[in-house]
Amino acid sequence: MTSTINHRALRSAAVMAACAVALWMTFAVRAQQEPITQEVPDNYAAHPAPEQPLPYSHRTHVALGLACETCHAGGQTTAQMGFPDPGTCMTCHSAIAADRPSIQLLATFAASAETIPWARVYEVLPGVTWSHQPHLTAGVSCGACHGQVAQLDNMAMTTSVTAMASCIGCHESRAANTACATCHAWPMP
Ligand code: HEC
Ligand code: HEC
Ligand code: HEC
Ligand code: HEC
Ligand code: HEC
Repeated sequence: MTSTINHRALRSAAVMAACAVALWMTFAVRAQQEPITQEVPDNYAAHPAPEQPLPYSHRTHVALGLACETCHAGGQTTAQMGFPDPGTCMTCHSAIAADRPSIQLLATFAASAETIPWARVYEVLPGVTWSHQPHLTAGVSCGACHGQVAQLDNMAMTTSVTAMASCIGCHESRAANTACATCHAWPMP
């Protein structure tokens, strides 16, 4: 008698666990497929991708299911999102594609503890008050400002987020501050 009950309890626990996994998988897949809403205008000026020290592709790596925050972890508490330490890359690349020249160069950077000299893409004019932190706290997504990053093999400035009109356009639509002093401290340096 007791053993039947235990059996049933065990079986229903197993069924529930299986359901939880199935649900989690559905949500994980949904989260990845959720369309990204860019909230700033496209960058209508020419925006060739700068030459980078390594042929790193967001398309390839985001398709693996890696979250942006795996590699850009800073912005929740600081102005800058920053770039990943080469050690983060080597968690995979000490094994994956280790024979390719690009990965051998990556391994050289990692071994020398040198930061990889990535060419910058998005930059606000010096002297403008900018920080990722209040934006992430307010729940603004990466894609609202940086667009469809998961589709880029070569990072380029596809959106106009660094232009004053784009900052102000979103501040107006989201009822954030638009007073000059929000973003400028005159006299500027
Ligand atoms: C596996 C690590 C990794 C992941 C995951 C990743 N990135 Fe990156 N990201 C990089 C590296 C390396 C660079 C510098 C090289 C380049 O610009 O392509 C970079 C550059 C960028 C830049 C340009 C920075 C500049 O110079 O202005 C943006 C914007 C960016 N990433 C956004 C994202 C977003 C949004 C996601 C998630 C959809 C994401 N990244 C996921 C590694 C990553
Ligand atoms: C979760 C594992 C993972 C992480 C972390 C990761 N990569 Fe990759 N990377 C891959 C996979 C998988 C491929 C595709 C390999 C293939 O083409 O067979 C790849 C491909 C590449 C390639 C192209 C290799 C070539 O020449 O064909 C480069 C360059 C690269 N990664 C750089 C980076 C850099 C830089 C970082 C850190 C910012 C990084 N990767 C982090 C898994 C990863
Ligand atoms: C409200 C708009 C906005 C949002 C949201 C946003 N960014 Fe940015 N991002 C910018 C601007 C503007 C810059 C240029 C900053 C500068 O010049 O210092 C930038 C720069 C960067 C850089 C270059 C390095 C750095 O730290 O400045 C990376 C990487 C980056 N963003 C990734 C991300 C990721 C990943 C997310 C989501 C977690 C995100 N951004 C969310 C506007 C945004
Ligand atoms: C996609 C929408 C969006 C874009 C684009 C955007 N912001 Fe914001 N910004 C916000 C929101 C939302 C807040 C948070 C407001 C709050 O917490 O009340 C914010 C807050 C700020 C703050 C903190 C000051 C305050 O009043 O709390 C500064 C500074 C700021 N933004 C500067 C900028 C600059 C500079 C740019 C352009 C380079 C920019 N923002 C682009 C939505 C945006
Ligand atoms: C939400 C942020 C934000 C607000 C509010 C804002 N600006 Fe700006 N402003 C910027 C950014 C970002 C740039 C740099 C644009 C670029 O690099 O093209 C800029 C550039 C400028 C410039 C040209 C460069 C310079 O600084 O000399 C002037 C002038 C200026 N702003 C004046 C103003 C005035 C006046 C106000 C108030 C009516 C104002 N801004 C409000 C973000 C803002």
